[in-house]
Amino acid sequence: MNKDFLSVYDLTRADFEIIFEKARRLKKMLREGIPYTPLFGKTLGMIFEKSSTRTRISFEVGIYQLGGTALFLSSRDTQLGRGENISDTARVMSRYLDAVVIRTYSQEFVEEFAKFATIPVINGLTDREHPCQILSDLFTIMEKKGGCEGLKVSYIGDGNNVANSWIDAAARIPFQLSLACPEHYEPDAEILARGMKEAIRGITLHRDPLDAVLEADVIYTDVWTSMGQEAEKDERTKAFQAYQINSSLLARARDNAIVMHCLPAHRGEEITDEVIDGPHSVVIDQAENRLHVQKAIMEIVMR
Ligand code: CP
Ligand code: NVA
Repeated sequence: MNKDFLSVYDLTRADFEIIFEKARRLKKMLREGIPYTPLFGKTLGMIFEKSSTRTRISFEVGIYQLGGTALFLSSRDTQLGRGENISDTARVMSRYLDAVVIRTYSQEFVEEFAKFATIPVINGLTDREHPCQILSDLFTIMEKKGGCEGLKVSYIGDGNNVANSWIDAAARIPFQLSLACPEHYEPDAEILARGMKEAIRGITLHRDPLDAVLEADVIYTDVWTSMGQEAEKDERTKAFQAYQINSSLLARARDNAIVMHCLPAHRGEEITDEVIDGPHSVVIDQAENRLHVQKAIMEIVMR
């Protein structure tokens, strides 16, 4: 694995296997109460410019469980928020910390930070990608379905950071990806074009969600308005009306399909209460797995 984890696309197939195998072991050890502290004495910096429940808690708890310490650095309280440049910040922080997780707006910010940092940098979400999410979602699918090979994953809704990372994953793992997005809300054009060329089992882009979910093994959705897009909320809510995961959409998928959502959900918008709380939903197990998979990532990049 490279020094940094900024994008799913940067991983090799072998990296996926190593991370999943380690995550499996870490999850089992935690369940059995076996202490495992390979990162004793190490400190993880967490630079967060956006809100977070799952990412923040799972990284913070994860590093403690591995024997290390976390330092939460809200951009409001550091000199970054007052305009200190990325190269100075990255080089200085590299002298104190052993790795850093960044949640911010631009992907370029994390890439530049990683370029100047001598420590590993992990992407904890940008407007463009959410790699830790998709890595742990693949792990959840493997647990629930016994593997990902040959499955059909249908992503319904906004062509956002989560959708982009799904497209990147399809170039590394042999599952079939179908997406349904409204006009003007398609995934990043560059990522989509690359994915269309490189996806192992193919990617299809639909306008109608009913077409996309046909015979799906996994139905996935995310919010219609991501962090930073709040001003577009009304317009987006209108554009996405036909893209709700509800019982009639779910009925088009396979009988044993699982429903996933990275959370937080806007219940009644992109997904109904009935579906997210129903028997097909795995969203809480999915959220738990962020902890195990990110512990595996930290152990690999920080050791
Ligand atoms: N799914 C996810 O990244 O959740 P948070 O925004 O709560 O971290
Ligand atoms: N697409 C969402 C994901 C939140 C975890 C956002 O960026 O707000």
